[in-house]
Amino acid sequence: MSQIKFYQGESLPLEMHKVRIVQKLNLIPVEQRLKAISEAGSNTFLLRNRDVFLDMLTDSGVNAMSDRQIAAMMEADDSYAGSETFYKLEAKIKEIFGKEYFLPAHQGRACEHIISKVFVKNGSVIPMNYHFTTTKSHITLCGGRVEEVYADVALEASSKHPFKGNIDIDKLTDLIKKHGPENVPFVRMEAGTNLIGGQPFSMENMRQVRDICDKYGILLVLDASLLADNLYFIKVREESCRDMSIREITRAMADLSDIIYFSARKLGCARGGGIATSSPELADKMRELLPLYEGFLTYGGMSVREMEALAIGLEETMDEEMINQGPLFIAHMVQELEKRGIPVVTPPGGLGCHVNAMEFVDHIPQEQYPAGALAAALYIAGGIRGMERGTLSEQRDENGNETLANMELLRLALPRRVFTLSQVMYAVDRIAWLYENRKLIGGLSFVEEPKVLRFFFGKLVPVDDWQIKLAAKFRQDFGDSL
Ligand code: F0G
Repeated sequence: MSQIKFYQGESLPLEMHKVRIVQKLNLIPVEQRLKAISEAGSNTFLLRNRDVFLDMLTDSGVNAMSDRQIAAMMEADDSYAGSETFYKLEAKIKEIFGKEYFLPAHQGRACEHIISKVFVKNGSVIPMNYHFTTTKSHITLCGGRVEEVYADVALEASSKHPFKGNIDIDKLTDLIKKHGPENVPFVRMEAGTNLIGGQPFSMENMRQVRDICDKYGILLVLDASLLADNLYFIKVREESCRDMSIREITRAMADLSDIIYFSARKLGCARGGGIATSSPELADKMRELLPLYEGFLTYGGMSVREMEALAIGLEETMDEEMINQGPLFIAHMVQELEKRGIPVVTPPGGLGCHVNAMEFVDHIPQEQYPAGALAAALYIAGGIRGMERGTLSEQRDENGNETLANMELLRLALPRRVFTLSQVMYAVDRIAWLYENRKLIGGLSFVEEPKVLRFFFGKLVPVDDWQIKLAAKFRQDFGDSL
Protein backbone atom coordinates (compact mmCIF):
# COMPACT_ATOMS: atom_id res chain seq x y z
CA MET A 1 0.00 0.00 0.00
CA SER A 2 1.55 3.27 -0.99
CA GLN A 3 -1.07 5.91 -0.19
CA ILE A 4 -4.24 5.97 1.89
CA LYS A 5 -7.27 6.75 -0.29
CA PHE A 6 -9.79 9.45 0.69
CA TYR A 7 -13.53 8.84 0.32
CA GLN A 8 -14.21 12.41 -0.80
CA GLY A 9 -12.06 14.35 -3.24
CA GLU A 10 -8.45 13.80 -4.13
CA SER A 11 -6.27 11.89 -1.68
CA LEU A 12 -3.76 13.94 0.27
CA PRO A 13 -0.46 12.68 1.63
CA LEU A 14 -1.13 11.60 5.18
CA GLU A 15 1.34 11.77 8.06
CA MET A 16 1.80 8.23 9.40
CA HIS A 17 3.20 9.52 12.70
CA LYS A 18 2.11 11.96 15.34
CA VAL A 19 4.03 14.94 16.63
CA ARG A 20 5.20 14.53 20.21
CA ILE A 21 8.05 17.02 20.47
CA VAL A 22 7.86 20.41 18.79
CA GLN A 23 10.18 23.30 18.08
CA LYS A 24 8.80 26.83 17.97
CA LEU A 25 9.22 28.54 14.61
CA ASN A 26 9.78 32.22 14.04
CA LEU A 27 8.92 34.25 10.93
CA ILE A 28 10.70 37.60 10.90
CA PRO A 29 9.28 40.51 8.83
CA VAL A 30 10.40 40.96 5.22
CA GLU A 31 12.62 43.96 6.02
CA GLN A 32 14.60 41.82 8.46
CA ARG A 33 14.75 38.99 5.96
CA LEU A 34 16.25 41.38 3.43
CA LYS A 35 18.89 42.41 5.96
CA ALA A 36 19.63 38.80 6.94
CA ILE A 37 20.13 37.60 3.35
CA SER A 38 22.33 40.58 2.62
CA GLU A 39 24.50 39.82 5.68
CA ALA A 40 24.65 36.20 4.55
CA GLY A 41 26.18 37.24 1.21
CA SER A 42 23.00 36.05 -0.55
CA ASN A 43 24.10 32.54 0.34
CA THR A 44 21.41 30.55 2.18
CA PHE A 45 24.14 28.42 3.83
CA LEU A 46 25.25 31.51 5.74
CA LEU A 47 21.84 32.39 7.19
CA ARG A 48 21.35 31.91 10.91
CA ASN A 49 18.67 29.41 11.81
CA ARG A 50 16.89 31.88 14.08
CA ASP A 51 16.15 33.97 10.95
CA VAL A 52 14.71 31.00 9.03
CA PHE A 53 11.02 30.04 9.10
CA LEU A 54 10.97 26.82 7.05
CA ASP A 55 14.40 25.24 6.77
CA MET A 56 14.29 23.36 3.48
CA LEU A 57 18.05 23.61 2.95
CA THR A 58 18.61 19.89 3.21
CA ASP A 59 17.33 16.57 4.47
CA SER A 60 20.73 15.90 6.00
CA GLY A 61 20.98 15.52 9.77
CA VAL A 62 17.59 17.22 10.26
CA ASN A 63 15.15 14.35 9.81
CA ALA A 64 12.80 13.82 12.73
CA MET A 65 13.80 10.92 14.91
CA SER A 66 11.27 8.39 16.18
CA ASP A 67 10.50 7.74 19.85
CA ARG A 68 12.20 4.37 19.41
CA GLN A 69 15.38 6.00 18.15
CA ILE A 70 15.53 8.43 21.03
CA ALA A 71 14.86 5.67 23.53
CA ALA A 72 17.67 3.59 22.02
CA MET A 73 20.09 6.49 22.42
CA MET A 74 19.76 6.18 26.18
CA GLU A 75 21.15 2.66 26.03
CA ALA A 76 24.35 3.54 24.18
CA ASP A 77 27.45 1.78 25.39
CA ASP A 78 30.14 4.42 25.48
CA SER A 79 33.66 3.09 25.20
CA TYR A 80 36.59 3.84 22.96
CA ALA A 81 37.01 0.22 21.89
CA GLY A 82 34.66 -2.73 21.74
CA SER A 83 31.40 -0.84 22.34
CA GLU A 84 28.37 -3.14 22.42
CA THR A 85 26.54 -0.45 20.46
CA PHE A 86 28.89 -1.00 17.55
CA TYR A 87 28.22 -4.74 17.52
CA LYS A 88 24.49 -4.06 17.55
CA LEU A 89 24.82 -1.76 14.53
CA GLU A 90 27.16 -4.15 12.74
CA ALA A 91 24.62 -6.94 13.22
CA LYS A 92 21.83 -4.74 11.81
CA ILE A 93 23.94 -3.89 8.76
CA LYS A 94 24.60 -7.59 8.22
CA GLU A 95 20.93 -8.45 8.63
CA ILE A 96 19.70 -5.78 6.21
CA PHE A 97 22.48 -5.61 3.61
CA GLY A 98 24.05 -9.03 4.08
CA LYS A 99 27.50 -7.43 4.41
CA GLU A 100 29.95 -8.92 6.92
CA TYR A 101 32.15 -5.90 7.46
CA PHE A 102 31.09 -2.45 8.59
CA LEU A 103 33.32 0.57 8.98
CA PRO A 104 31.63 3.49 10.75
CA ALA A 105 32.58 7.03 9.72
CA HIS A 106 31.53 10.47 10.88
CA GLN A 107 29.46 11.19 7.76
CA GLY A 108 29.05 10.37 4.05
CA ARG A 109 31.94 12.42 2.74
CA ALA A 110 34.26 10.72 5.24
CA CYS A 111 33.38 7.42 3.53
CA GLU A 112 34.13 9.04 0.17
CA HIS A 113 37.45 10.23 1.51
CA ILE A 114 38.47 6.71 2.56
CA ILE A 115 37.16 5.02 -0.59
CA SER A 116 38.91 7.59 -2.82
CA LYS A 117 42.20 7.32 -0.91
CA VAL A 118 42.19 3.53 -1.24
CA PHE A 119 40.99 3.05 -4.80
CA VAL A 120 41.59 6.26 -6.80
CA LYS A 121 45.02 6.82 -8.32
CA ASN A 122 46.43 9.53 -10.54
CA GLY A 123 44.67 9.15 -13.88
CA SER A 124 41.84 6.95 -12.58
CA VAL A 125 38.46 7.40 -14.24
CA ILE A 126 35.33 6.86 -12.13
CA PRO A 127 32.09 6.40 -14.11
CA MET A 128 28.85 7.21 -12.30
CA ASN A 129 25.23 8.04 -13.02
CA TYR A 130 25.86 11.57 -11.72
CA HIS A 131 28.38 13.21 -9.43
CA PHE A 132 27.69 14.57 -5.99
CA THR A 133 29.67 17.66 -4.87
CA THR A 134 31.71 16.04 -2.11
CA THR A 135 32.24 12.82 -4.11
CA LYS A 136 33.71 14.71 -7.04
CA SER A 137 35.97 16.79 -4.80
CA HIS A 138 37.42 13.72 -3.06
CA ILE A 139 37.99 11.84 -6.31
CA THR A 140 39.61 14.90 -7.91
CA LEU A 141 41.83 15.51 -4.85
CA CYS A 142 43.17 11.94 -5.28
CA GLY A 143 44.06 12.61 -8.93
CA GLY A 144 41.05 10.88 -10.46
CA ARG A 145 38.35 12.08 -12.82
CA VAL A 146 34.60 11.72 -12.60
CA GLU A 147 32.82 10.67 -15.81
CA GLU A 148 29.05 10.87 -15.83
CA VAL A 149 27.32 8.24 -17.93
CA TYR A 150 23.72 9.19 -17.34
CA ALA A 151 20.97 8.50 -19.82
CA ASP A 152 20.10 11.64 -21.84
CA VAL A 153 16.70 11.84 -20.14
CA ALA A 154 18.44 12.63 -16.82
CA LEU A 155 18.81 16.26 -17.83
CA GLU A 156 15.27 16.73 -19.11
CA ALA A 157 13.80 18.71 -16.24
CA SER A 158 10.27 17.86 -17.26
CA SER A 159 9.81 14.20 -18.11
CA LYS A 160 7.71 11.14 -17.41
CA HIS A 161 10.64 8.74 -17.25
CA PRO A 162 10.40 6.81 -13.96
CA PHE A 163 14.17 6.20 -13.64
CA LYS A 164 16.12 9.27 -14.67
CA GLY A 165 18.99 8.15 -12.42
CA ASN A 166 19.81 5.17 -14.67
CA ILE A 167 23.28 4.67 -16.11
CA ASP A 168 23.46 4.53 -19.91
CA ILE A 169 24.92 1.06 -20.48
CA ASP A 170 26.40 1.85 -23.91
CA LYS A 171 28.11 4.99 -22.63
CA LEU A 172 29.50 3.01 -19.70
CA THR A 173 30.86 0.26 -21.96
CA ASP A 174 32.43 2.76 -24.37
CA LEU A 175 34.06 4.63 -21.51
CA ILE A 176 35.59 1.48 -20.03
CA LYS A 177 36.88 0.40 -23.47
CA LYS A 178 38.31 3.87 -24.13
CA HIS A 179 40.26 4.16 -20.87
CA GLY A 180 40.90 0.46 -20.24
CA PRO A 181 39.39 -1.38 -17.27
CA GLU A 182 42.72 -1.14 -15.42
CA ASN A 183 42.14 2.61 -15.10
CA VAL A 184 38.59 2.25 -13.83
CA PRO A 185 38.81 1.17 -10.17
CA PHE A 186 35.05 1.26 -9.62
CA VAL A 187 31.71 2.32 -11.02
CA ARG A 188 29.61 4.41 -8.62
CA MET A 189 25.83 4.31 -8.62
CA GLU A 190 24.14 6.97 -6.54
CA ALA A 191 20.70 6.03 -5.25
CA GLY A 192 18.12 8.82 -5.44
CA THR A 193 20.49 10.85 -7.61
CA ASN A 194 20.79 14.10 -5.69
CA LEU A 195 21.88 16.76 -8.16
CA ILE A 196 19.37 15.88 -10.87
CA GLY A 197 16.44 16.16 -8.48
CA GLY A 198 16.51 13.07 -6.27
CA GLN A 199 15.86 10.75 -9.21
CA PRO A 200 16.09 6.96 -8.79
CA PHE A 201 17.66 4.22 -10.89
CA SER A 202 15.94 0.90 -11.52
CA MET A 203 16.86 -2.56 -10.30
CA GLU A 204 17.10 -3.67 -13.91
CA ASN A 205 19.64 -0.94 -14.63
CA MET A 206 21.70 -1.91 -11.61
CA ARG A 207 21.72 -5.54 -12.78
CA GLN A 208 22.97 -4.44 -16.19
CA VAL A 209 25.72 -2.33 -14.61
CA ARG A 210 26.70 -5.31 -12.46
CA ASP A 211 27.04 -7.46 -15.60
CA ILE A 212 29.39 -4.90 -17.17
CA CYS A 213 31.42 -4.67 -13.94
CA ASP A 214 31.72 -8.47 -13.87
CA LYS A 215 32.75 -8.58 -17.52
CA TYR A 216 35.60 -6.12 -16.98
CA GLY A 217 36.52 -7.00 -13.39
CA ILE A 218 35.52 -3.63 -11.96
CA LEU A 219 34.02 -2.97 -8.52
CA LEU A 220 30.51 -1.61 -8.13
CA VAL A 221 30.11 0.97 -5.36
CA LEU A 222 26.63 2.01 -4.22
CA ASP A 223 26.16 5.43 -2.63
CA ALA A 224 23.16 4.55 -0.49
CA SER A 225 22.70 7.94 1.18
CA LEU A 226 19.34 8.41 -0.56
CA LEU A 227 18.52 4.72 -0.70
CA ALA A 228 15.20 5.04 1.15
CA ASP A 229 13.65 7.09 -1.66
CA ASN A 230 15.12 4.83 -4.35
CA LEU A 231 13.74 1.73 -2.62
CA TYR A 232 10.27 3.23 -2.56
CA PHE A 233 10.42 4.25 -6.22
CA ILE A 234 11.58 0.79 -7.29
CA LYS A 235 8.69 -0.71 -5.34
CA VAL A 236 6.01 1.52 -6.90
CA ARG A 237 7.48 2.24 -10.36
CA GLU A 238 9.19 -1.02 -11.40
CA GLU A 239 6.70 -3.65 -12.47
CA SER A 240 9.01 -6.61 -11.85
CA CYS A 241 9.65 -5.52 -8.24
CA ARG A 242 6.07 -4.77 -7.25
CA ASP A 243 5.68 -8.01 -5.30
CA MET A 244 8.98 -7.69 -3.48
CA SER A 245 9.11 -6.30 0.05
CA ILE A 246 11.30 -3.27 0.79
CA ARG A 247 13.60 -5.63 2.65
CA GLU A 248 13.92 -7.89 -0.38
CA ILE A 249 14.59 -4.96 -2.70
CA THR A 250 17.28 -3.69 -0.32
CA ARG A 251 18.93 -7.07 -0.18
CA ALA A 252 18.85 -7.49 -3.95
CA MET A 253 20.54 -4.08 -4.43
CA ALA A 254 23.11 -4.85 -1.75
CA ASP A 255 23.91 -8.21 -3.37
CA LEU A 256 24.70 -6.38 -6.60
CA SER A 257 27.17 -4.05 -4.84
CA ASP A 258 30.75 -4.75 -3.80
CA ILE A 259 30.84 -1.76 -1.48
CA ILE A 260 27.95 0.22 0.00
CA TYR A 261 28.53 3.56 1.68
CA PHE A 262 26.10 6.10 3.03
CA SER A 263 25.49 9.27 4.91
CA ALA A 264 23.50 8.34 8.00
CA ARG A 265 22.44 11.97 8.15
CA LYS A 266 20.03 10.88 5.40
CA LEU A 267 19.71 7.10 5.48
CA GLY A 268 18.52 6.00 8.89
CA CYS A 269 17.60 9.49 10.16
CA ALA A 270 20.61 9.82 12.47
CA ARG A 271 24.03 11.42 12.09
CA GLY A 272 27.11 9.60 10.88
CA GLY A 273 27.86 7.24 8.03
CA GLY A 274 29.52 4.01 7.11
CA ILE A 275 30.98 1.62 4.58
CA ALA A 276 29.88 -2.00 4.25
CA THR A 277 31.32 -4.85 2.22
CA SER A 278 31.45 -8.64 2.22
CA SER A 279 35.00 -8.79 0.97
CA PRO A 280 37.67 -9.24 3.66
CA GLU A 281 40.32 -7.90 1.25
CA LEU A 282 38.40 -4.69 0.51
CA ALA A 283 37.52 -4.23 4.18
CA ASP A 284 41.19 -4.67 5.17
CA LYS A 285 42.36 -2.01 2.76
CA MET A 286 39.87 0.57 3.97
CA ARG A 287 40.12 -0.36 7.64
CA GLU A 288 43.72 0.87 7.81
CA LEU A 289 42.61 4.45 7.23
CA LEU A 290 39.75 4.43 9.71
CA PRO A 291 41.67 5.07 12.94
CA LEU A 292 43.78 7.64 11.10
CA TYR A 293 40.99 9.85 9.78
CA GLU A 294 37.84 8.89 11.65
CA GLY A 295 38.32 7.12 14.94
CA PHE A 296 38.78 3.62 16.30
CA LEU A 297 37.10 0.77 14.40
CA THR A 298 34.15 0.55 16.77
CA TYR A 299 33.03 4.18 16.56
CA GLY A 300 34.74 5.77 13.53
CA GLY A 301 34.01 9.34 14.59
CA MET A 302 30.35 8.70 15.38
CA SER A 303 28.74 9.25 18.74
CA VAL A 304 27.58 5.91 20.14
CA ARG A 305 24.16 7.50 20.72
CA GLU A 306 23.83 8.15 17.02
CA MET A 307 24.95 4.58 16.31
CA GLU A 308 22.08 3.28 18.44
CA ALA A 309 19.67 5.61 16.65
CA LEU A 310 21.02 4.49 13.28
CA ALA A 311 20.46 0.79 14.01
CA ILE A 312 16.79 1.56 14.71
CA GLY A 313 16.58 4.04 11.82
CA LEU A 314 17.80 1.41 9.35
CA GLU A 315 15.19 -1.01 10.63
CA GLU A 316 12.50 1.68 10.23
CA THR A 317 13.70 2.26 6.66
CA MET A 318 12.43 -1.23 5.83
CA ASP A 319 8.87 0.04 6.48
CA GLU A 320 7.15 1.25 3.31
CA GLU A 321 4.83 3.47 5.36
CA MET A 322 7.84 5.29 6.73
CA ILE A 323 9.84 5.71 3.50
CA ASN A 324 6.82 6.73 1.44
CA GLN A 325 6.36 9.92 3.48
CA GLY A 326 9.06 11.98 1.74
CA PRO A 327 8.09 10.97 -1.82
CA LEU A 328 4.33 11.45 -1.21
CA PHE A 329 4.72 14.93 0.28
CA ILE A 330 7.17 15.90 -2.46
CA ALA A 331 4.80 14.60 -5.14
CA HIS A 332 2.00 16.72 -3.66
CA MET A 333 4.16 19.84 -3.60
CA VAL A 334 5.27 19.24 -7.19
CA GLN A 335 1.67 18.71 -8.30
CA GLU A 336 0.50 21.93 -6.61
CA LEU A 337 3.33 23.91 -8.20
CA GLU A 338 2.62 22.42 -11.62
CA LYS A 339 -1.06 23.40 -11.25
CA ARG A 340 0.13 26.98 -10.90
CA GLY A 341 2.30 26.72 -14.01
CA ILE A 342 5.58 26.78 -12.09
CA PRO A 343 8.46 24.87 -13.72
CA VAL A 344 9.54 21.95 -11.52
CA VAL A 345 11.51 18.76 -12.03
CA THR A 346 9.26 15.84 -12.95
CA PRO A 347 8.57 13.14 -12.24
CA PRO A 348 8.75 14.11 -8.57
CA GLY A 349 11.82 12.56 -6.96
CA GLY A 350 12.97 12.04 -3.41
CA LEU A 351 14.80 14.40 -1.05
CA GLY A 352 12.81 17.49 -1.99
CA CYS A 353 10.97 19.47 -4.58
CA HIS A 354 13.21 20.93 -7.27
CA VAL A 355 12.21 24.16 -8.96
CA ASN A 356 13.69 24.61 -12.43
CA ALA A 357 15.41 27.99 -12.15
CA MET A 358 16.65 27.84 -15.77
CA GLU A 359 12.99 28.43 -16.76
CA PHE A 360 11.70 30.27 -13.69
CA VAL A 361 14.20 33.10 -14.11
CA ASP A 362 15.18 32.58 -17.74
CA HIS A 363 16.28 36.23 -17.94
CA ILE A 364 19.25 35.58 -15.60
CA PRO A 365 22.40 34.27 -17.34
CA GLN A 366 24.00 31.16 -15.85
CA GLU A 367 27.12 33.17 -14.97
CA GLN A 368 24.91 35.12 -12.56
CA TYR A 369 23.70 31.97 -10.80
CA PRO A 370 19.95 31.90 -11.48
CA ALA A 371 19.25 29.13 -8.95
CA GLY A 372 21.26 30.91 -6.26
CA ALA A 373 19.39 34.13 -7.00
CA LEU A 374 16.06 32.28 -6.76
CA ALA A 375 17.08 30.79 -3.40
CA ALA A 376 17.86 34.27 -2.04
CA ALA A 377 14.58 35.61 -3.48
CA LEU A 378 12.48 32.86 -1.87
CA TYR A 379 14.06 33.58 1.47
CA ILE A 380 13.04 37.23 1.10
CA ALA A 381 9.54 36.22 -0.02
CA GLY A 382 8.79 33.73 2.73
CA GLY A 383 11.63 33.09 5.15
CA ILE A 384 12.04 29.73 3.40
CA ARG A 385 15.58 28.46 3.09
CA GLY A 386 16.30 26.34 0.02
CA MET A 387 19.59 25.39 -1.62
CA GLU A 388 21.11 26.23 -4.96
CA ARG A 389 21.97 23.20 -7.08
CA GLY A 390 23.43 24.62 -10.25
CA THR A 391 26.47 26.54 -11.47
CA LEU A 392 27.24 27.92 -8.01
CA SER A 393 27.63 24.33 -6.77
CA GLU A 394 30.20 23.63 -9.51
CA GLN A 395 33.90 24.44 -9.41
CA ARG A 396 35.80 26.63 -11.89
CA ASP A 397 38.05 24.69 -14.31
CA GLU A 398 41.88 24.82 -14.25
CA ASN A 399 41.80 28.08 -16.23
CA GLY A 400 39.40 29.78 -13.87
CA ASN A 401 36.42 29.55 -16.22
CA GLU A 402 32.96 28.83 -14.91
CA THR A 403 31.74 25.24 -15.32
CA LEU A 404 28.15 25.88 -16.33
CA ALA A 405 25.89 23.30 -14.68
CA ASN A 406 23.63 21.09 -16.78
CA MET A 407 20.68 22.09 -14.65
CA GLU A 408 19.90 25.12 -12.53
CA LEU A 409 17.75 23.92 -9.65
CA LEU A 410 16.40 25.44 -6.47
CA ARG A 411 16.11 22.50 -4.13
CA LEU A 412 13.49 22.66 -1.40
CA ALA A 413 14.27 19.68 0.77
CA LEU A 414 11.59 18.00 2.82
CA PRO A 415 13.43 16.42 5.72
CA ARG A 416 11.66 13.23 6.73
CA ARG A 417 8.68 13.56 9.09
CA VAL A 418 9.38 17.26 9.77
CA PHE A 419 6.94 19.49 7.86
CA THR A 420 3.15 19.43 7.86
CA LEU A 421 0.99 19.78 4.78
CA SER A 422 0.03 23.39 5.62
CA GLN A 423 3.70 24.33 5.81
CA VAL A 424 4.20 22.77 2.40
CA MET A 425 1.23 24.78 1.09
CA TYR A 426 2.67 27.99 2.55
CA ALA A 427 5.86 27.32 0.56
CA VAL A 428 3.78 26.69 -2.58
CA ASP A 429 1.97 30.00 -2.04
CA ARG A 430 5.16 32.04 -1.62
CA ILE A 431 6.74 30.38 -4.67
CA ALA A 432 3.59 31.24 -6.66
CA TRP A 433 3.88 34.90 -5.56
CA LEU A 434 7.52 34.90 -6.57
CA TYR A 435 6.65 33.43 -9.96
CA GLU A 436 4.18 36.28 -10.59
CA ASN A 437 6.99 38.70 -9.72
CA ARG A 438 9.86 36.78 -11.27
CA LYS A 439 11.00 39.65 -13.48
CA LEU A 440 11.99 41.51 -10.32
CA ILE A 441 14.60 38.84 -9.53
CA GLY A 442 18.12 39.60 -10.73
CA GLY A 443 21.49 37.84 -10.74
CA LEU A 444 24.31 37.50 -8.21
CA SER A 445 28.06 37.94 -8.40
CA PHE A 446 30.82 36.74 -6.09
CA VAL A 447 32.66 39.02 -3.69
CA GLU A 448 34.38 36.17 -1.82
CA GLU A 449 34.89 32.96 -3.78
CA PRO A 450 36.53 29.92 -2.14
CA LYS A 451 38.36 27.56 -4.51
CA VAL A 452 36.81 24.29 -3.26
CA LEU A 453 33.09 23.74 -2.56
CA ARG A 454 32.51 27.47 -2.95
CA PHE A 455 28.74 27.20 -2.50
CA PHE A 456 29.18 26.41 1.18
CA PHE A 457 30.75 29.65 2.33
CA GLY A 458 31.21 31.94 -0.68
CA LYS A 459 29.72 35.43 -0.41
CA LEU A 460 27.82 37.16 -3.21
CA VAL A 461 26.00 40.41 -3.88
CA PRO A 462 22.97 41.15 -6.06
CA VAL A 463 24.02 42.66 -9.42
CA ASP A 464 21.80 45.71 -8.72
CA ASP A 465 19.17 46.71 -6.13
CA TRP A 466 16.71 43.95 -7.11
CA GLN A 467 16.47 42.47 -3.60
CA ILE A 468 15.36 45.84 -2.17
CA LYS A 469 12.73 46.17 -4.91
CA LEU A 470 11.49 42.63 -4.32
CA ALA A 471 11.08 43.24 -0.57
CA ALA A 472 9.22 46.51 -1.29
CA LYS A 473 6.84 44.70 -3.67
CA PHE A 474 6.21 42.07 -1.01
CA ARG A 475 5.29 44.76 1.51
CA GLN A 476 3.01 46.40 -1.04
CA ASP A 477 1.18 43.13 -1.83
CA PHE A 478 1.00 41.65 1.67
CA GLY A 479 0.32 44.80 3.72
CA ASP A 480 1.36 44.34 7.32
CA SER A 481 1.39 40.54 7.06
CA LEU A 482 4.75 38.87 7.60
N1 F0G B 1 26.29 11.28 -1.21
C1 F0G B 1 25.11 11.85 -1.44
C2 F0G B 1 24.23 11.30 -2.52
C3 F0G B 1 24.70 12.95 -0.69
O1 F0G B 1 23.52 13.51 -0.94
C4 F0G B 1 25.54 13.43 0.33
C5 F0G B 1 25.16 14.59 1.13
C6 F0G B 1 26.77 12.80 0.55
C7 F0G B 1 27.11 11.72 -0.24
C8 F0G B 1 27.70 13.27 1.61
O2 F0G B 1 27.21 12.94 2.86
O3 F0G B 1 26.80 15.15 4.00
O4 F0G B 1 27.00 13.04 5.31
O5 F0G B 1 28.98 14.02 4.24
N2 F0G B 1 24.25 15.39 0.83
C9 F0G B 1 23.84 16.54 1.65
C10 F0G B 1 22.75 17.31 0.95
C11 F0G B 1 24.97 17.41 2.06
O6 F0G B 1 22.33 18.32 1.51
O7 F0G B 1 22.27 16.91 -0.12
P1 F0G B 1 27.50 13.84 4.17
